[in-house]
Amino acid sequence: MCGIVGYVGQKQALEVVVSGLRRLEYRGYDSAGVAVISEGELEVRKKAGKLANLESLIGQDPLPSSTTGIGHTRWATHGGPTDSNAHPHVSENGRIAVIHNGIIENFAELRDELTAAGVHLSSETDTEVVAHLLARELPLAEFDLTVAMMRTCALLEGAFTLLCLDPHQPDVVVGARRNSPLVVGVGDGENFLASDVAAFVEYTSEALELGQDQIVTLTPDGVSVIDFDGNPVIPLAFTIDWDASAAEKDGYELFMLKEIAEQPRAVADTLRGRIGKDFRIQLDEANLDDAVIKKISKVMVIACGTAAHAGMVAKYAIEHWTRLPVDVELASEFRYRDPIVGPDTLVIAISQSGETMDTLMALRYAKEQGAHTLAICNTVGSTIPRESDAVLYTRAGPEVAVASTKAFLTQIVAAYLVGLYLAQVRGALFEDEVRSILRDLDDMPSKIDLVLDTVEPVRALARQLVDARSVLFLGRHVGFPVALEGALKLKELAYMHAEGFPAGELKHGPIALIEDGIPVVVIVPSPRGRAVLHDKIVSNIQEVRARGARIIAIAEEGDESITPYADDIIRIPEVPTLLQPLVATVPLQVFACEMATAKGHDVDQPRNLAKSVTVE
Ligand code: M6R
Repeated sequence: MCGIVGYVGQKQALEVVVSGLRRLEYRGYDSAGVAVISEGELEVRKKAGKLANLESLIGQDPLPSSTTGIGHTRWATHGGPTDSNAHPHVSENGRIAVIHNGIIENFAELRDELTAAGVHLSSETDTEVVAHLLARELPLAEFDLTVAMMRTCALLEGAFTLLCLDPHQPDVVVGARRNSPLVVGVGDGENFLASDVAAFVEYTSEALELGQDQIVTLTPDGVSVIDFDGNPVIPLAFTIDWDASAAEKDGYELFMLKEIAEQPRAVADTLRGRIGKDFRIQLDEANLDDAVIKKISKVMVIACGTAAHAGMVAKYAIEHWTRLPVDVELASEFRYRDPIVGPDTLVIAISQSGETMDTLMALRYAKEQGAHTLAICNTVGSTIPRESDAVLYTRAGPEVAVASTKAFLTQIVAAYLVGLYLAQVRGALFEDEVRSILRDLDDMPSKIDLVLDTVEPVRALARQLVDARSVLFLGRHVGFPVALEGALKLKELAYMHAEGFPAGELKHGPIALIEDGIPVVVIVPSPRGRAVLHDKIVSNIQEVRARGARIIAIAEEGDESITPYADDIIRIPEVPTLLQPLVATVPLQVFACEMATAKGHDVDQPRNLAKSVTVE
């Protein structure tokens, strides 16, 4: 949801900023722009469309040499994706350039105030008011850009990360943060600001976390941070534990393909060091309080999109292992009703980015109600883990493709570890049960590898079905959230109607959608597990098949009983029922990716979407 980069140092700012934007483009790709300072003047280039459009504009109209710059890649909220709405926005007097991520909620009021004072606004954005306000506040702040930013932030409501430049202070970038992400990269004689460490990890691994309501001033030799009241703040330092190559395509055509292929490694990394030799779960790093775990009487998972599907999968396992009730709530709905959440509740916020605004706001609400909070997150130092009592990081590595893949699998694994830990502390499981689950979990990377080795027929099937109008996905038990995830992948990548249903629910209405030839993907539970689930799904398959559906079964190796009922069978390895999502999701990811490719879509950056959704 908008990517932001700032640089001050010795290098050519344009190169650093554009390479940072390239790594942040997953956050939004409606337009892009840069501003640099050269000979006491601001130079701005901005263009609607993807970053490539901006690069070609700069090719035709080059920017002068400069060692200070800011850049932005936009996901439009206020005003369409046009050249004039692209950031940076510059004040009328040419004194301030500003870029922004978030929403200024009182922008209409501020715009009216500025207009009444004779300021002419030239875009439809909420951001432009900030440029004019900063220019107005600068003389009142005795031309100290940091103070001008502090005065301006006091006028703003909503969520924002802002970066600004003043050409009269050529070695300074000032940033501010409220409810939107911003991190500092610390270099030698150079410093960086960005929405995400990916933007600067090729230059430095040393970073600083910024908290809420803080202002940061960057020069080549220093980083100083104050809060919105002007009090000095010492930011928390951290080291980025992956290098720039982890965020490269590494020979793959698409980030999504690379990330699908990385899943065995991501799952293995998420398990690493967390299962002791004695088969006890070791989550000391998470800072979970055993006394709290013993006292809680329920668990609530809050999350959005794919992360919510991971939570739905985890519900089955955590309830089964702990006998605690688990509710899974879409974070965007959670605080707008009257949820029953309090000191007896463990709230688990699941988020790849750690910045999803809906999840963050739900987390804050849960904390206000006295709940204990745990984040399951992939992004070290992001806001959701920072604001949670405990955090268990998934170790998927950077996920760049907008469609979540490896994050999903690792979120399930992390949530399972939490479930087993709760059971361990509460004494809810027998040792031999835990031992057998952990052995199976440990085998998952090699099982996922097996799936990856056999996905070619899935690709062929996707190409065959490229003209389908609609695809339905059916599952039961943990297969239901997998069905939802398969449908979400297809919607976001192939832009086609796709829906996931609990297989037993179809006959209560959605079966009316079945028409001759409609592809129905069925996640078939293992016949070796709870046989009743398998039997019931076979009945559900017959119901839709009788009405003309084309059945694509995702079924376990060796399950021959499904053969008479399926038109196509995608085989997955034998695994226990609760672990089936870790293998059954992979062909669905491949299916959606191939379908989108066959339709000629931009798989890594699908239309209208952004990877990290930092507005509500
Ligand atoms: O960063 P988060 O995990 O909090 O993101 C939540 C959703 O926005 C995300 O999973 C989204 O649904 C994905 N694009 C789905 O592929």
